[in-house]
Amino acid sequence: MSAEYANARRRAMEPCERSEDASAPLGWAESAAAWITDMGEEGDYGRACVLDRPMLERIHGRRFATALDVGCGEGRFCRMLQVAGISTVGIDPTEELLGQARRRDPKGDYRIGRAEALEFPDRSFDLVVSYLTFIDIGDIERAVAEMARVLRPRGTLLIANLTSFATAGADGGWQPHADGRLRFCIDHYLDERAEWVSWRGIRVKNWHRPLCRYMTLLLGAGLTLTHFDEPAPNSGDADSADRYRRVPWFLLMEWEKTADQQPRV
Ligand SMILES: C[S@@+](CC[C@H](N)C(=O)[O-])C[C@H]1O[C@@H](n2cnc3c(N)ncnc32)[C@H](O)[C@@H]1O
Repeated sequence: MSAEYANARRRAMEPCERSEDASAPLGWAESAAAWITDMGEEGDYGRACVLDRPMLERIHGRRFATALDVGCGEGRFCRMLQVAGISTVGIDPTEELLGQARRRDPKGDYRIGRAEALEFPDRSFDLVVSYLTFIDIGDIERAVAEMARVLRPRGTLLIANLTSFATAGADGGWQPHADGRLRFCIDHYLDERAEWVSWRGIRVKNWHRPLCRYMTLLLGAGLTLTHFDEPAPNSGDADSADRYRRVPWFLLMEWEKTADQQPRV
């Protein structure tokens, strides 16, 4: 195995590795300590060096007063929104992560909650954020409807997610080819499914859904797409940047609430 191959394989496994290790943590509560360590203060590579900058560019100068961060985890993006002058509420079902959010931001508003049943009145927020949480949410249909419901008219839903190409990666995605090089393989693209993935002591279930599943739900919720991006790395080490450029890893979407949800007939 060439050094390049070994290195690429190790790096490639970081974001998404199937785990057969029965002693690995199971789910968000058990993975919380490793997640908090992994995030640190700055966030992991994908956040600090790829997503944070374009996410904040969508926010600056927009006069959002209130924001809901759905699946806020340990609260890093809530803290960043507050620096931008926005009053935030973060919800998350994982108490262990919310505890850390409260420790880091004692005056912040962090509540136990699930995307599928948001405990807020209709039209409560100027901005709703889902920062790499669509992949974690089981009932995405209910969750999208709920995010749209709590947005005020003309409010913004800002989403960062793993691309559906990335989540369709077969056995972690990177596979050696005949020439010895690794290439990213996807399989069963159209089949919605949840799979256990693990990296650096974290083991959680992630959902793969084809892109049309998300787009259909968002369009059906009375939202209009106003911005779409596949952000490139903007900082960090060259090796990681190369890996994140080879595969469509992240997407960023901004949707505007242009109509209230209609009851289904
Ligand atoms: C990949 S982490 C992202 C955390 C944070 N948004 C960030 O970017 O650092 C996914 C988060 O989604 C949360 N989560 C899992 N299921 C959820 C659900 N049904 N509704 C809302 N959040 C959920 C997890 O507890 C976890 O904090």
